Amino acid sequence: MYRTHTCGELKATDEGERVTLSGWVDRIRDLGGVKFVILRDRYGKTQIVVNPDSPVYSKVDEISREDVIQIEGTVRKRPKEAVTNELTGEIEVVVERLEILSKSKLPPFYPGDEVSEEVRLKYRYLDLRSARMTNNLIVRHKMAFATRAYLSDKGFLEIETPYLTKSTPEGARDFLVPSRLKKGNFYALPQSPQLLKQLLMVSGMDKYFQIVRCFRDEDLRADRQPEFTQIDIEMSFVHMEDVLQLAEGLARHIYATIGINLPEKFDKVPFEEAMEKYGSDKPDRRYGMEMMDLTQYFKNSDFKIVKDIIDKDGFVKGFKANIPMSRKIADEYSEFVKGYGLGGILWFKIENGQITSTTAKYLENEYVAISKDYNVSEGDVFILAVHEDREKLNTALGALRLKIGKQYMKVSGYDALWVIEFPFLEWSDEEQRFVARHHPFTMPYIEDIENNVEPAKIRAYAYDMVINGFEAGGGSIRIHKREIQEKVFEMIGLSKEEANEKFGFLLEALQYGVPPHGGIALGLDRLVSIAVSVENIREVIAFPKTSSGTCLLTNAPSTVSQAQLDEVGITLKQ
Ligand code: AMO
Repeated sequence: MYRTHTCGELKATDEGERVTLSGWVDRIRDLGGVKFVILRDRYGKTQIVVNPDSPVYSKVDEISREDVIQIEGTVRKRPKEAVTNELTGEIEVVVERLEILSKSKLPPFYPGDEVSEEVRLKYRYLDLRSARMTNNLIVRHKMAFATRAYLSDKGFLEIETPYLTKSTPEGARDFLVPSRLKKGNFYALPQSPQLLKQLLMVSGMDKYFQIVRCFRDEDLRADRQPEFTQIDIEMSFVHMEDVLQLAEGLARHIYATIGINLPEKFDKVPFEEAMEKYGSDKPDRRYGMEMMDLTQYFKNSDFKIVKDIIDKDGFVKGFKANIPMSRKIADEYSEFVKGYGLGGILWFKIENGQITSTTAKYLENEYVAISKDYNVSEGDVFILAVHEDREKLNTALGALRLKIGKQYMKVSGYDALWVIEFPFLEWSDEEQRFVARHHPFTMPYIEDIENNVEPAKIRAYAYDMVINGFEAGGGSIRIHKREIQEKVFEMIGLSKEEANEKFGFLLEALQYGVPPHGGIALGLDRLVSIAVSVENIREVIAFPKTSSGTCLLTNAPSTVSQAQLDEVGITLKQ
């Protein structure tokens, strides 16, 4: 038997017990007489005592950190002054037998050491030995497990859908897999199981879920991986509210299993309001600092920069913050918003009861009026910006708000909300046409179409779950009628032929009796990273890819042999 207990298990009540433990040598402490070996495994650490009269005393000199050893010994209570609040902090094991199961070469780093992420990813198996990374994977497991239990309990079936499939557009590029048997043809790895889960509703499966890997070839960021995991859900005979209730209940349940309380009720914030107040469709409301429309204060302003823009039907927006401000800081913020297409920021603060600002002599009256109406008091700073494009203005100020929030405010707790009433379409500069903002299987507000609302203003039955400023999930009510689906394909500029070629199987299925249905997908990686308070989802994925899409451990992607290319009929361009 390799072990009778794990390294995180023994308690004072085990005193006197003869035990066998196996694990990694975390540390060796030589107190010039008694030696201590800290033995570690996934469960914890146990202190092993080697007395000078122990038969294995000299053997300790042969072991080094990260070796795998097995020991046999007797549990004893630690002296009072040596008790710690670690899992096994009440006891130690007095060793009688020690065996080296496997030696470790000097590792490039010890678990938990601060080293570059590159090195951590190259030796990910060593990195995962740290208590922090082990805990991240444990939390991930618990959340996935709780998901299955909760949904199964509510009558959902976990059904697998293929990874070798046909392209389903979710706005990113597909990863392609060449076919050997049908040369010149390609499978696409699914960006999500969207259409297949809808077809499962046509089949009458009623309630489906899957914890599923999705693949998207897109530019990577801290919260995006080329392959990531969704908790994918679809339900029949539901309205939007039913899906929201279910997903909210699920999120609350899985967070509760790891000791986090999400709000009892998630607020619903229309997209338009989120953009106006926070300049983001995934607002972190914990920072406060709501943005306000201040255009009216500047209508008669003759300060040229402002006047020119107001004359072009532009807008002034701003927010109040309790932060330090100086000309230097203002310059930095101006540079920041220039990155979003604005000219810079305006600002004022109240110092010694006085309006203070580099632009005070031109805009004093406006600043005084704003201070009065918005209770700007000593120490407050007001940041403003002007632009003719309201969307640009909102986005730029929203980004600055977030930057300031992250820089100066320590927020805690959980803000969870729904963003609803997303626009159905958005203009793609790249493609020079409207594209579906969520995906083209989303149900638009039919009344908006009937009322000939301009394309960019048509609303969709689409919703995002936002937690602490992260988009944790997104979904929609789907189109369950062929004629509406065809109309939508037309609206996004797909010809009948293209629609048939790409989605003929869906259009066909929509003719055979389709229940009204809808669903959502939550990003498991993001849910876990929010739970363990890390910004980068690589921290909660065992073997993630770098931001350039490579796996530093295996060196994927890599070249393949000519023979492999020949088999799938591919000739590489020089
Ligand atoms: P959507 O594209 O919004 O919807 O994706 C759902 C959720 O998946 C997560 N996510 C990602 N996580 C990590 N890396 C990525 N590259 C990545 N992309 C998305 C996010 C996101 O909210 N088929 C629809 C769902 C539906 O309509 O039911 C879909 O995939 O948390």
